[in-house]
Amino acid sequence: MSLIEHIHTDYLPKHIAIIMDGNGRWAKQKGLLRTVGHENGTKSVRQTVESSAELGIKNLTLYAFSTENWNRPKLEVQTLMKLLVSSLKKEIKTLQKNDIKLNAIGCLNELPQKAQKELLEVIEKTKNNNRMCLTLALSYGSREELINTVKKISIKVKNNIISPENIDESVINEHLYTQNLPDVDLLIRTSGEQRISNFLLWQIAYAELYFTKVLWPDFTKEHLYEAIIEYQKRERRFGKTSEQIN
Ligand code: IPE
Ligand code: IPE
Ligand code: MG
Repeated sequence: MSLIEHIHTDYLPKHIAIIMDGNGRWAKQKGLLRTVGHENGTKSVRQTVESSAELGIKNLTLYAFSTENWNRPKLEVQTLMKLLVSSLKKEIKTLQKNDIKLNAIGCLNELPQKAQKELLEVIEKTKNNNRMCLTLALSYGSREELINTVKKISIKVKNNIISPENIDESVINEHLYTQNLPDVDLLIRTSGEQRISNFLLWQIAYAELYFTKVLWPDFTKEHLYEAIIEYQKRERRFGKTSEQIN
């Protein structure tokens, strides 16, 4: 029986988020420049996006660049931004072919103009696709998102559009960058690091966490299947007892 046949299609995670980590170490192990690691990481992105859509995953969110990543050497940041532009240009075909809608979260106005323009173009061109929503987290930091959310809600309170008593989870959700997305069911991080690195702190409140030692450029669809199979073996209790669930 092949790996994919172990996946129950009636119990798929509605939202998978991935911290794509380990490009630099992958390159270093091979005696190559870190940027070569990033280039090879784009192949894993394509394979993960296509196989998620084929499986029937409705939402996939990829952590591509954090607010903290701006502190990396200038040349590396430049290369990552160039890769973003070239990948968007190249992969629009993959998105259209697979009926995938592109979405982006983060401080998008901090991205270089060229990247912003390309991003908005692909988002516009794919807006009517509905097999899967692919969200790229770019210049994204969860704390920044929460600050931004508090500001937006505060302004509405000040202008009497929202009253403080009515602030609940749904109000917060509606003001996050992820406003139209369901909570994350499965969070995957590659490269062996076991931390969240400022990613979707609110949205992963009840996510199943899955850490793999595989470096991102080595991540294939089989690794994705393994993560989903592991997810499907877990009992999600949401605070209840096992007896209540079954
Ligand atoms: C992930 O790989 C890509 C980004 C964070 C942009 P890294 O570049 O963090 O690779 P390592 O962690 O140094 O191996
Ligand atoms: C997290 O990876 C950000 C992305 C994958 C885009 P990092 O490599 O930047 O995280 P830390 O610094 O190891 O926590
Ligand atoms: Mg890293």
